[in-house]
Amino acid sequence: MMRIENAWTGGGDILPGIPGSLNPVEIVEMIRTPYKYIHDRFDKHGHVFRSRIIYPIVWMVGVDCNRFMMVTRRHDFSYEKGYGKLAFAKLFPKSILLLDGDEAGHARGILTPALGRLGIRDSCEKVTEIWKRRTETLDDGRSRDAYDFVLRSTFDVSANALTGVQLGDELESYRPLFEELIVGAMANTQIRVPMGKLDRGLRARNEIVRRMTPTVEEARRNEPEGMVGLLAHYKDDAGNYLPIEEVVNHLLLLFWAGYDTTASAGSWVVHLLAHHPAWQEELKEEADRVIGDRDFELGDVAELEKLSWFIREQERFAPSIFMFPRVTNEDIEYKGFHIPKDTAVMWTPYMTHRDPAAFEHPNIFDPGRWSDERGDRKAKSKNLFGFGGGPRLCLGRNFALMQLRVMITTLVRNYVIEPDPTAQWSPQALPMHHPVNSRVHFRRRH
Ligand code: HEM
Repeated sequence: MMRIENAWTGGGDILPGIPGSLNPVEIVEMIRTPYKYIHDRFDKHGHVFRSRIIYPIVWMVGVDCNRFMMVTRRHDFSYEKGYGKLAFAKLFPKSILLLDGDEAGHARGILTPALGRLGIRDSCEKVTEIWKRRTETLDDGRSRDAYDFVLRSTFDVSANALTGVQLGDELESYRPLFEELIVGAMANTQIRVPMGKLDRGLRARNEIVRRMTPTVEEARRNEPEGMVGLLAHYKDDAGNYLPIEEVVNHLLLLFWAGYDTTASAGSWVVHLLAHHPAWQEELKEEADRVIGDRDFELGDVAELEKLSWFIREQERFAPSIFMFPRVTNEDIEYKGFHIPKDTAVMWTPYMTHRDPAAFEHPNIFDPGRWSDERGDRKAKSKNLFGFGGGPRLCLGRNFALMQLRVMITTLVRNYVIEPDPTAQWSPQALPMHHPVNSRVHFRRRH
């Protein structure tokens, strides 16, 4: 049995030498006031501290900790044991986030070429079409919730571009299934209770697999096209295709990994644009100058400099996910702290990005900090972890950035975004980090 589970008994001094409290009420505070929780402990204890989220955990916060976990000693921090404890593991079995070492390397070898093509070539037009259609009629006088608004389009993009579901009736028939799948992945427990979140998610998953299997079989008979085609045609070194079930597993994981994350980022973008009107004008002026009346193209990226600053600052200031799990594979010594084998460890891009050692005035949203006049941008980017880091960096980063660029350039050229003064918004850290009830008006530009 793992040592961390023995900690339930409360016997002995658990994680000695590491500051912080193992009081069971820690989890209550973390769920109720996550921002206060993490800031308070970081201010009090520094970069390494212990706490309890059901079982004892060690938080490792800051750029050095992240590099230690993701680069220098990455083999000593297990994804399998970290993510394996979550409901997610039941819905996405054998997926890349549940793999370590060579197995993870093998899965990345399968996904990287397909995602590379997806991010760079194949889908920019599709994504643009979805966003253009979505933004045609926003000036109807109603205010919209930033998160719900973005969520709907990122759903369509992920279902269509990542899993090959056709827009229209087919997508609508899949929508409730994918939604159940996502809700199931966020369930608090791996225990399957009839009609509970996990149970409904598993039923939805079985139905999606049943429906997608013939699609993958057909894709194998046709020319390789899109994500489904590329994965269906993938052959290993011995010339064998992947089993159909494995292709479907990869597609579902990509959908999960790409949909809500991009929606969170996009909802922060809409919220931040609404609250920083001067930046809207800067981005519109730049988009008009570089893109003019045509659609955004990937070749525009280098010239859309301020757009890149804005997106980077959103990633820094409000990363899509607050915290990520690992479990140690070995005893770890880090800066005088001893973290035993089989300890649950959390890393948090949110708090790392708020560490004054990583960024000046970290609690201020300031896209201009990314300009070269204010310091070497490449060096500063090394302190960003919204997409993870090291050899396991997010595989969908380029695809997500492309979608955010399409979304922002489409919105700022056509609309002025204004906060609805009657709505009180608040940030929500968990499970996905996004603004809640941030309602905005879209006023068409003439
Ligand atoms: C703004 C949007 C996104 C954000 C913020 C994001 C963030 C992340 C982060 C932080 C990780 C590392 C997790 C860890 O270290 O435990 C990750 C991994 C991953 N992401 Fe993303 N992601 C986004 C979009 C996407 C998209 C669109 C896709 C697919 C098309 C995708 C596919 C993946 C995959 C497959 C992994 C696992 C990589 C591995 O384990 O080696 N992500 N993502």
